[in-house]
Amino acid sequence: MTNELPPVCDVREVGPRDGLQNEAPVTVAERVRLIDALVDAGIRRIEAASFVHPAAIPAMAGAEEVLAGVQRRPGVKFTALVPNRKGAERALAAGADELEAVVSASATHNLKNLKRTREESLAEIAGVIELAHAAGRAVDACVATCFGCPYEGDVDPVEVAGFARRLLDLGADTVFFGDTTGMGSPRRVGLLLDALEAVGIDLGIVGLHLHDTRGTGLANAYAALQRGVSRFDASIGGLGGCPYAPGASGNVATEDLVHMIEDLGIETGISLDGVIAAAHLAEEIVGRRLPGQVMRAGPRTQLVG
Ligand code: COA
Ligand code: ZN
Repeated sequence: MTNELPPVCDVREVGPRDGLQNEAPVTVAERVRLIDALVDAGIRRIEAASFVHPAAIPAMAGAEEVLAGVQRRPGVKFTALVPNRKGAERALAAGADELEAVVSASATHNLKNLKRTREESLAEIAGVIELAHAAGRAVDACVATCFGCPYEGDVDPVEVAGFARRLLDLGADTVFFGDTTGMGSPRRVGLLLDALEAVGIDLGIVGLHLHDTRGTGLANAYAALQRGVSRFDASIGGLGGCPYAPGASGNVATEDLVHMIEDLGIETGISLDGVIAAAHLAEEIVGRRLPGQVMRAGPRTQLVG
């Protein structure tokens, strides 16, 4: 088989948002400290906050203060999740470099998460894209619950591809696919990528947002890498979950993903020691043991003694 692995991967850190939104709220200063440690580790794209209603996700209150507090470095982009136009206005005013707009492939999950039908969410996203582009910022659109929904079960990859196509037609710059509840498997990743290619989507603009709820996270990432996908979300220490998806656990751990990707000879620009240190910091901040594995065992080349 031809080795189609990409030479370089863009690993976006989502722990400060997808991770911390599911934890008891921590202070803005602690959120900023974690983000600064991730920047120090060489991560170039960090989902720093979400500009949602603070009553809906209390742990994400203070998004403006987080963006005002983080150290800015050339080449480092801070992305922000926005549920609607109001969130986009707030995020742009706060200096987010890139916005993320979400719609769920599952009607029920979309309604529970965003209190909107999927059509209403698509109309809202069109407005978000307009606002972002007028401000010269890009929009990464996310289709959530791509591999299944806890309320509706399996989701048809063809339907997911249809949403992705519509988001790109609305002007989204890139699109990523959320395995919100970790229902994906390598086989299903293949089926989704086939469906995307069938509607003319170049896998070069595709990102995967994988959760490791059922232990398939890294296998799913590997299946996608073999198809040339080079954009992945990951969360430091495996922090994370979704408040509107019962049983959802964290994303693929950043340090575990970087460890595997670098061993494949793919460049990430990220320091493994740096992300291991940041994973320990994340653990200290949330005050519980995180599921990341390389943060415990160390890199595979680490000797005992
Ligand atoms: N930030 C802050 N306030 C917001 C807001 C935002 N992005 N969007 C709406 N509001 C405010 C409105 O100004 C209004 O305030 P008012 O009562 O003082 O006039 C109030 O919220 C209600 O507005 P409405 O448009 O009816 O919102 P809603 O109650 O239907 O809530 C969402 C919809 C999507 C904004 C809300 O459910 C939300 O933020 N959910 C978060 C979802 C999420 O992050 N999930 C996990 C990640 S995918
Ligand atoms: Zn997620």
